[in-house]
Amino acid sequence: MINELLGTRLPLIQAPMAGVQDASLAAAVCNAGGLGSLPCAMLSPELLETEVSRLKALTDRPFNLNFFCHRPEAATEAQQRAWLSSLSGFFAELGIDPPADVEIRSRQPFGAKALAVIEQLRPAVVSFHFGLPEAESVTRIKRCGTRVLSTATTVEEAVWLADHGVDAIIAQGMEAGGHRGSFLNEDLTTQCGTLSLVPRIRAAVSLPVVAAGGITGPREVAAAVALGAAGVQAGTAFLLCEEATTSALHRAAIKGAGAGHTAITNVFTGRPARSIVNRLVRELGPLAPSAPPFPSAANAVAALRRAAEPAGCSDFTPLWCGQNTLGCREAPAADVLEYLAGGLVDQRAGVNRD
Ligand SMILES: Cc1cc2nc3c(=O)[nH]c(=O)nc-3n(C[C@H](O)[C@H](O)[C@H](O)COP(=O)(O)O)c2cc1C
Repeated sequence: MINELLGTRLPLIQAPMAGVQDASLAAAVCNAGGLGSLPCAMLSPELLETEVSRLKALTDRPFNLNFFCHRPEAATEAQQRAWLSSLSGFFAELGIDPPADVEIRSRQPFGAKALAVIEQLRPAVVSFHFGLPEAESVTRIKRCGTRVLSTATTVEEAVWLADHGVDAIIAQGMEAGGHRGSFLNEDLTTQCGTLSLVPRIRAAVSLPVVAAGGITGPREVAAAVALGAAGVQAGTAFLLCEEATTSALHRAAIKGAGAGHTAITNVFTGRPARSIVNRLVRELGPLAPSAPPFPSAANAVAALRRAAEPAGCSDFTPLWCGQNTLGCREAPAADVLEYLAGGLVDQRAGVNRD
C-alpha cells in the first residue's frame, strides 16, 4: 500500500483543497496517521513560507505540499469584454461596477520560489495538479528524497506522468470535487468515473495508483482497494471538518438538499471544476463559451461574490464539492480519517482485492 512510500501509518491522503483549508487541517490529518496536504496554489511566496512554517510547528509527521502547474494564459481584451458582458446583468442587479482589472492573480503556477522552499524543507511528498513542472524541477525535487505525485484523469495522462518520473499516480475520477486535473486535452468526454479509471490505469502503468473522486466513507475506500488502488485521496469528506476553513455558506450548501446536484463547470475560474449547482452555474454554464482562460474568469466572479455573500447569498460562490457527500461529517479530521480507515479494516478482514 502507498503508506510505505509516503511514510504514513495509513494509505489515506487528505486531498489538498485550495480556498477551504490551511495548515490546520493538514496537520490534524498528519497527526492522526494520514498524509495531510497543504494547497499552495493560492498562496503568495510570503504566505507559502508562513503556512509551511505553521505546518511544521503543528506536526512532525510527513506531509504533502501541493502546487498547480498550469501555463497561465492571459485573457485577450476581447475575451475580457465578452466575459464582463456575460456577467453584466449580475453586476447591474447587485448595483456594483465590474472590476477594471481582470488580470491573472488568483492562482499562480509552480515556480522558482516554491522550488526553493521545497529544497530547503525537503517535504516527504509534493503533489501537482494539471501535469508537472519542467523536467529539471522534477529531478531537483526528487533529489531531495521527496516523493512526487500528480493527477491523471485519463489513462493517457497516467502513462505520460509515469514516463515523466512521478512516484505514484492520483487517478481522479469524474465524481471528484474541485478542478479536473487534466492536462493533455480539454475534452471532458475522454474522462470517466473512479470505478472505471482506477483499474484501467492499474492495467496501463506499474506505479502505485491512488483513487480519488467520490470516496467519503469506508465502503468506497474498500471498493477502491478492491479495484487495485494502493491508497485513497479524499477531499469532499473533509469539507465539513472543524479544522477546514470552508465558509458558512459553502458548509450550508454541502449539508443542504442541493448538494446532490453538482456539475463540472468553468464559470468560476475558466477551467472545468465540479461545484454544487448554483445560480451562476445554472444561468451561465455549466460550460460557458465566454469564460476566459484559467484563472482569469475568477476576478470578475470574485467581485460578485464580495457583493452577494455578506447578504447570505451563495449565487456566485464556487461551491466546490464532489458527487458523493454521504460520508461528510462535522467532526474533527482525525475522526473522519478513522472513519475512512474502516474500509481498510474491511480489506484486512478478507474482502477480495484484485
Ligand atoms: C474544495 C476543493 C478544492 C480542491 N482544490 C485542489 C487543489 O488545490 N489541488 C489539488 O490537487 N486538488 C484539489 N482538489 C481536488 C482533489 O485533489 C481531489 O481530486 C478530489 O477532492 C477528490 O474527490 P472528492 O472531492 O470526491 O473526494 C480540490 C477538491 C475540492 C473538493
